[in-house]
Amino acid sequence: MTEPRQIDHCECCGLTFAQIVDQARQKQTTSVRRLKRELGMGTYCTACRPYIETALETGQTVFQEPETPAT
Ligand code: FES
Repeated sequence: MTEPRQIDHCECCGLTFAQIVDQARQKQTTSVRRLKRELGMGTYCTACRPYIETALETGQTVFQEPETPAT
């Protein structure tokens, strides 16, 4: 059995969710659209978008990969 993988950054741009939350605080915004435009995260495969939205809403910056059902 493998440990669930931690998800803490945008794979495509390399920014961690902690960095994105920090940037949001510095810019005093929670606008994903603005942050995407200014930082470039979440604009390629978009897989990180739900995590970024949660990070901006809650401050949580590390997530566990959802378990996939056994086949
Ligand atoms: S993981 Fe963030 S855009 Fe692909």
